[in-house]
Amino acid sequence: MTSDINTEAQIILDAIRNRRTMPFMKVKPDPIAEEHLSLILEAANWAPSHRHTEPWRFVIFQGEGRARLGDLLAETYKAAAGDKFLERKYQKSRNRCAHVPVAMAILMKPKGVNPEFEEILAVGCAVQNMHLAAQSLGIGCSWSTPALVDHPDVRTFFQLEEGERCLGFYYMGYAADPFPPSKRGDVNDKVTFIDHA
Ligand SMILES: Cc1cc2nc3c(=O)[nH]c(=O)nc-3n(C[C@H](O)[C@H](O)[C@H](O)COP(=O)(O)O)c2cc1C
Repeated sequence: MTSDINTEAQIILDAIRNRRTMPFMKVKPDPIAEEHLSLILEAANWAPSHRHTEPWRFVIFQGEGRARLGDLLAETYKAAAGDKFLERKYQKSRNRCAHVPVAMAILMKPKGVNPEFEEILAVGCAVQNMHLAAQSLGIGCSWSTPALVDHPDVRTFFQLEEGERCLGFYYMGYAADPFPPSKRGDVNDKVTFIDHA
């Protein structure tokens, strides 16, 4: 195999390989520059979708608005936890939303594509774009998908109509720590080549 990887390809490959989830306590509380947030959202918006349905929707909580998401998550957790309630978990949502400069709900608004999972996949592509763009700007992100994404209180808050989904919450801020290395299992264990009759 020849290896004439040009610089542009190398940059993209490195960005993909080095992309990391950054836990919320490892981002700075400083606001995200408007220009940076716009670039990140624009990157998300270039995701592919079958028949250009563009099903990704984002609700962004910043400034005072972050407390609204913190309250929603904490109170929904409390309502759903019953006797498994833990004060630590209850406070975590609030603390997380208070700490990061930008928190986001990731929503999916399908437009009748069949099978419907294509719409979910498209939103995943949008988030990956967003994550890569953010990290290239020094912004660390994490995606959280608590069980309460389907809770009626969450659906009501985001005024989700039938078929629409909340696919999680996303937290971002300038990285306070270097992005750590990670590892993956061997890709060859996940691939089958069929190259003969
Ligand atoms: C669809 C999706 C949902 C995720 N949900 C959670 C989550 O609920 N909690 C969590 O800690 N991490 C969550 N993650 C982040 C993964 O744990 C993380 O991507 C994985 O550990 C690999 O680490 P890396 O992103 O640094 O490579 C989610 C990632 C994806 C793609």
